[in-house]
Amino acid sequence: MMSKVLKLNNGRELPVVGLGTYKSGPGEVKKAIKDAIDAGYRHFDCAWFYGNEAEVGIGLRAKIDEGKVKRQDLFITSKLWNNFHAKDQVVPMLKETLNNLKLDYVDLYLIHWPFGFKETASLWPVGKGAAAYSDVDYLETWQGMEECVNLGLAKSIGISNFNAEQIERLLKNCKIKPVCNQVEVNPNLNQKKLIEFCKQRDIVVVGYCPLAAISLGISVIPKSVTKSRIIENIDIDFTLDPEDVAYLDSCNKNQRVCPLAEFKNHKYYSFNTEY
Ligand SMILES: NC(=O)c1ccc[n+]([C@@H]2O[C@H](COP(=O)([O-])OP(=O)(O)OC[C@H]3O[C@@H](n4cnc5c(N)ncnc54)[C@H](OP(=O)(O)O)[C@@H]3O)[C@@H](O)[C@H]2O)c1
Repeated sequence: MMSKVLKLNNGRELPVVGLGTYKSGPGEVKKAIKDAIDAGYRHFDCAWFYGNEAEVGIGLRAKIDEGKVKRQDLFITSKLWNNFHAKDQVVPMLKETLNNLKLDYVDLYLIHWPFGFKETASLWPVGKGAAAYSDVDYLETWQGMEECVNLGLAKSIGISNFNAEQIERLLKNCKIKPVCNQVEVNPNLNQKKLIEFCKQRDIVVVGYCPLAAISLGISVIPKSVTKSRIIENIDIDFTLDPEDVAYLDSCNKNQRVCPLAEFKNHKYYSFNTEY
């Protein structure tokens, strides 16, 4: 079954359902990618931070070499990690990701989080406090992202975990508009206001930790390494009754699976505002 597509603000198309790859472990992610391509997935959500892009690349390459898919039929997303927000680090980090994925370009490159860590800090500097923070402005990072498009290394660029205020500030200071904001969306956190805010600005929302976040006019990227679930998760070609939507709305508690509250004192932390 093939996924429907959403139109991005630069004219490109994003398959609505993608496969998440966070915590898809060694020895299982290659198979998950291959099963997903066989099941009709064409959109894959990856990140340098997930540490598994090389194995993702082996799965993708196997299916391309087999003739099952062409590179141009795939939509591959990756993300820039927080330790590398300085403008001159963005292109080298994307080149490292491309090398791991064994690709010449990604379809979408995202700033994973709006706040940065020092390059010398650990990748996950919990308990280190402000000493681990970098104050590089995400507007500077964005200039590096734009360079990725100009060099042909990314077809589209976007953001992840940005709040409305940060998006507005970026829109006022960019040459290339972000095509999407990838954020957590699920029944506990329906993100109605942020989704509407993004829609008004022609920015697509991609929902993560999304199981059951359907019928919202957004893209979703459920993760699974289990073949039967991979097949089940792309087979969502139905719409919910208004009563079901109302029930799901009533589940909203504005609770996050990924609050990253350890970093809430960072200047560019994004979840201190309503949305
Ligand atoms: N931008 C960001 O900051 C950010 C943050 C978090 C996640 N993400 C992206 O979003 C993706 C999805 O989020 P997530 O991985 O946190 O959570 P998720 O997709 O909501 O849930 C994944 C879990 O649900 C299980 N599962 C999958 N399909 C199922 C089904 N049909 N029935 C029952 N259980 C099922 C999986 O198990 P099995 O694998 O064992 O089948 C896995 O344990 C990530 O993989 C990543 O690509 C992005």
